[in-house]
Amino acid sequence: MKVLITAGPTREAIDPVRYLSNFSSGKMGYAIAEAARDAGHEVVLVSGPTALKPPEGVQFQSVISADEMLESVLTNIINVDAFIAVAAVADYRPEKALPEKHKKNDLKWQMNLVKNPDILATVSQSVRPRPFCVGFAAETNNVLRYGREKLERKGLDMIAINDVSRDDLGMDHEYNALHILWSTGEATFPKQKKPALAKQFWQLIEEQFNAVHTS
Ligand code: PMT
Repeated sequence: MKVLITAGPTREAIDPVRYLSNFSSGKMGYAIAEAARDAGHEVVLVSGPTALKPPEGVQFQSVISADEMLESVLTNIINVDAFIAVAAVADYRPEKALPEKHKKNDLKWQMNLVKNPDILATVSQSVRPRPFCVGFAAETNNVLRYGREKLERKGLDMIAINDVSRDDLGMDHEYNALHILWSTGEATFPKQKKPALAKQFWQLIEEQFNAVHTS
């Protein structure tokens, strides 16, 4: 298979020295890229800014913002069999990045935010031939309900739901746990280190990919 994976956060510029972002470390996405590579697949990893070293044997594309991530994904999506969206893409960005540093003269600073493009929904709904599409859902409440809604709304083949309200796993942690849904089934992978979890998850992706392509 040729596999395209997004990982890490995106950064949305406010001015030349400030940005909006989130706490994603990239560890989950990089671990899945390594699991897919170790299983013998060709892997392209599109990553937002992280402190991690690009995995060996993986084609690595570094991006900063959601717009750049979308552009890189659309450039690299040709002939991709499976698209795995692990990145924590910033949902909003400042309407206009200021060309000069904002001076802190006022007690309050208000800015308008506009919605970023949804990279996963764009691939799932517009790229043809359509790759097998796997999303992640990072939720703090109503975890399973919101996860299932994302599976359906974005038209995905699978979704991996993680509870990011816990302080012992998830975003910016060594450990994670996943509940995975697809149209005909579900699976639970309990708390473990991200590389071990990624290996198990990758096996499930292969099984479901093969089920869809042989049915
Ligand atoms: O990086 P780590 O520290 O290891 O943490 C891993 C993780 C918690 C970031 C990861 O496991 C995870 O849950 N990633 C998805 C986080 C997220 O943004 O979830 P979401 O529910 O907001 O988005 C749903 C899906 O749509 C995700 O697959 C996301 O990549 C995708 N998306 C979201 C918004 C957007 N504009 N474009 C997208 O492609």
